[in-house]
Amino acid sequence: MNRDQVLNEAEAFAREILTGESSGHDWWHIARVRALARTIAAAEQADSFICELAALLHDIADPKIAGDWDTGLARVGDWLAAHDVPAAERDHVLEIIATISFAGGNKSAPRTLEGRVVQDADRLDAIGAMGIARAFAYGGAHGRILHDPTISPRASMTAEEYRSHATPTINHFYEKLLLLKDRMNTDYARHLAEQRHHVMEAFLDEFYAEWDGAR
Ligand code: ADP
Ligand code: NI
Repeated sequence: MNRDQVLNEAEAFAREILTGESSGHDWWHIARVRALARTIAAAEQADSFICELAALLHDIADPKIAGDWDTGLARVGDWLAAHDVPAAERDHVLEIIATISFAGGNKSAPRTLEGRVVQDADRLDAIGAMGIARAFAYGGAHGRILHDPTISPRASMTAEEYRSHATPTINHFYEKLLLLKDRMNTDYARHLAEQRHHVMEAFLDEFYAEWDGAR
């Protein structure tokens, strides 16, 4: 197995499957998560190959793309085997992919450092300037309004409610995005999350001031 070649081919595979995806998991989300995973892996001394490979493949098995988890994970497993990724590394990547989804209801941290790094990278891409842009893109794609001051955010949700509720996009900040800073696994991601969190708070502050006609 040539590691650089496997990463290049994984990139092509993800690009082919996810280009044009409109659920917030388009190819460029993958490219950003991979770049973040590499950055965090270097700071945390994690295995960059595993982190990058899992980042590149992390959304291919998602039920939103693959239909259901079993089909999606089998597809990724077949791909890894076909590209001569050794069994131990293949299992590691599959384990990471299976355990990082927030919406999947996984409350416990991934078992390995590499899993923690990839989960942090995926979560970081949901906050900050990028998170704001993605939230409103998602809201638009799902026909949601920006904000409704009469609808308050929900404190806790089941996975089903999380998927199905149709509240305004601003509420998503309180239901998920502002909570992510405290859910980072690694020190370096916690450090990156601070700046991104600050950007969202400043955005919300400005948003309400403009909403009220105050600025
Ligand atoms: P993931 O698989 O990364 O957990 P989701 O499908 O939950 O992804 O979300 C994909 C992107 O869409 C993220 O940036 C997320 O914040 C955004 N998103 C998900 N649900 C909503 C929502 N109800 N309102 C606005 N943005 C949302
Ligand atoms: Ni993702």
